[in-house]
Amino acid sequence: MTRDRMKMKVPHEEEYTALIKSRLDERRFYHSLCVADSSEELALRYGADPVKARTAGLLHDLFKNAGRDEVFGLFDRYSFRPDEITVSQKKLWHACAGALYIGYVLGLDEDVVNAVRYHTTGRAGMSLLEKVVFIADFISADRDYPGVERVREKAERSLEEAMTEGLQFTITELCGELKPVHPDSVACYNELVNGGNNGKA
Ligand SMILES: [Fe+2]
Ligand SMILES: [Fe+2]
Repeated sequence: MTRDRMKMKVPHEEEYTALIKSRLDERRFYHSLCVADSSEELALRYGADPVKARTAGLLHDLFKNAGRDEVFGLFDRYSFRPDEITVSQKKLWHACAGALYIGYVLGLDEDVVNAVRYHTTGRAGMSLLEKVVFIADFISADRDYPGVERVREKAERSLEEAMTEGLQFTITELCGELKPVHPDSVACYNELVNGGNNGKA
């Protein structure tokens, strides 16, 4: 996958692109553009809203480079109480902070907010848009981890198959590092291996 075809423009795309450019390092900025492209492509393939998908993809890592003070300041401002595992795992902060910011400050709708909120952990009962952004983050053009081609192949056929593969990868990696697995990821995985969320998405 490369960033070579004409992409659609979403409302405020220039503003959002400038925002992520101002907040992210170059590698993360490029990753966000790639995830926006992948989200749009997957949305078109699977029937999700491509504008919402592109918007969520663009903004999903908005707080990736933010420090503890800014993230927890935002949590306090919007009375968000992170669970214990989220507090202890820095990798989980940006999804929560990003979701709060794009909902309260940018005024984006709940679908887009939830796609950003759950792009790292997944959860049981994910919407189609949430699944699209979750997988786009795994298979975007900039990704080159061992096994990425397998997830890409699966994403051509089934979002759920790709998600199972992606979660297996994430959970195995966390266990290997003796890090906690967030309960939302476990619930997501269990639902997938038990046959999906019964067509909710
Ligand atoms: Fe992320
Ligand atoms: Fe990402």
